[in-house]
Amino acid sequence: MKTDLSFASPAEVQTECLAVVVLDHGSRDKTEVSLETSDSAIKDATAEAIASGEVTGKIFESTLLHHPAKLKATRLLLLGGGKASNFTPSELRKLAGAAVRFLKAKGIRSFAFLAPESITSDEAVKTIVEGAFVGNFDPDIYKSDRKDQKIDSVAVVTRGESARLQKAMDEGCILGASQNFTRELVNEPSNRMTPTILAGRAREMAREVGLKCEVYGADKIKELKMGAFWGVAQGSDEPPALIVLRYEPADAPATPVLGLVGKGITFDTGGISIKPADGMEKMKYDMAGGAAMIGAMRGIALLKPKMRVTAIICATENMPSGKAQKPGDVQIAMSGKSIEIINTDAEGRLVLADGLCYARQLGCTHLVDAATLTGAVVVALGYVNAGVFANDEKMYERFTRALEKAGEKFWRLPLDDEYKENIRSNIADIVNSGGRWGGAVNAAMFLKEFAEDTPWLHLDIAGTAWIEENKAWIAKGPSGIAVRTLVEFARDFKD
Ligand code: BES
Ligand code: MN
Ligand code: ZN
Repeated sequence: MKTDLSFASPAEVQTECLAVVVLDHGSRDKTEVSLETSDSAIKDATAEAIASGEVTGKIFESTLLHHPAKLKATRLLLLGGGKASNFTPSELRKLAGAAVRFLKAKGIRSFAFLAPESITSDEAVKTIVEGAFVGNFDPDIYKSDRKDQKIDSVAVVTRGESARLQKAMDEGCILGASQNFTRELVNEPSNRMTPTILAGRAREMAREVGLKCEVYGADKIKELKMGAFWGVAQGSDEPPALIVLRYEPADAPATPVLGLVGKGITFDTGGISIKPADGMEKMKYDMAGGAAMIGAMRGIALLKPKMRVTAIICATENMPSGKAQKPGDVQIAMSGKSIEIINTDAEGRLVLADGLCYARQLGCTHLVDAATLTGAVVVALGYVNAGVFANDEKMYERFTRALEKAGEKFWRLPLDDEYKENIRSNIADIVNSGGRWGGAVNAAMFLKEFAEDTPWLHLDIAGTAWIEENKAWIAKGPSGIAVRTLVEFARDFKD
């Protein structure tokens, strides 16, 4: 998607459609609609529609006017942004996505978005572009009658210093495109996104943006004594991949080194503790944590923060077979800890255990992992918030700052020592499944054993990596959750 800045006055913008935000300034029960622009030509062109009462400013309400009087635009789209008091860059991002989805379905290929006046112009430009990219993605790539409707070009109409605004626009493009790159990877079914193919896509991306990439197979996994990772991989005929991406800018100090560790289960059958058939097809997205790290590395490579970042993606299928690990088996993780495998479906924490240990061995001083780790986090938080766990307050504080910038929703869950009892084993150091109650916490407690004393965040994105229903601003399917937040996290990492 092509993106441009326009400094023209709104009436002069020549476009297939000019999108303008309308807000509800009214009090609780009374609506009072107002345009997010003081431009008199836009006011005149919309006066009748607004006076009619049809336009209420309700969030995502879309009113399309043809041949608006005295404007050069062919159409004018009035986009409801909800209550004025709740209108933030986060709503604006979604509105841009909603405009894209509304207009592309009507065969429109190019439009202009008038930046609202209540948000600073560089923040508005960045979020509009991010939202437009997110809205432009559709998952139906294997349909033979695919319409492939896309917006080819969007202009943001704004005012201000052009160099600054161009930078904001470039940032928005990088963040939106990186999120969509992750969504592309997650969208692929497991026969078209094996660990080997995932590694190939990571390598290709790394070449394009100038990252170092190493891909290792079963031999290296065994040589590193990654018994937990191998325990999962041993059951599959499809070879596993240990993917390492490195961002090492010349101007960065030797430390800190941020380690991003991703769960890359390209299909999770559950293994011998096999999952029910109903809904199992969704387990193709069990590599969404790994894909988020790959997408985040793309964004980081292009935005060039002055800090080293290393990503480790542990990619394998989780399959039942004559070679598969069985409940009761004991595996020795790379760190030396012994793990009793109670449930082979708790495989994500196994591959991450060795991924976290390897990240520490490679010199990472701060760790973040992302994983579609537990059904329990979906029970706890639904599809709205993802779960975040932290063993370090400063890391959590940095993360909340990044969330604010990226407009993503995570909710912190606890890691009290009392939960450790749930993962006690009779035969080994720990079990891999702490049972049903507090399942998301038990999984996080397991990972904590492998982060050891390194400042660490764990992101459980099981409920948020896949969107079940179409939304105004985003298609159902892979969400690309965590990518924007992780990039912002790395950009703003102050020790
Ligand atoms: N990949 C699943 C978790 C998951 C569930 C992701 C729903 C996306 C949507 C994970 O490997 C898993 O199977 N977890 C088990 C753990 C249990 C056996 C302790 C679960 O949550 O049921
Ligand atoms: Mn599983
Ligand atoms: Zn899984």
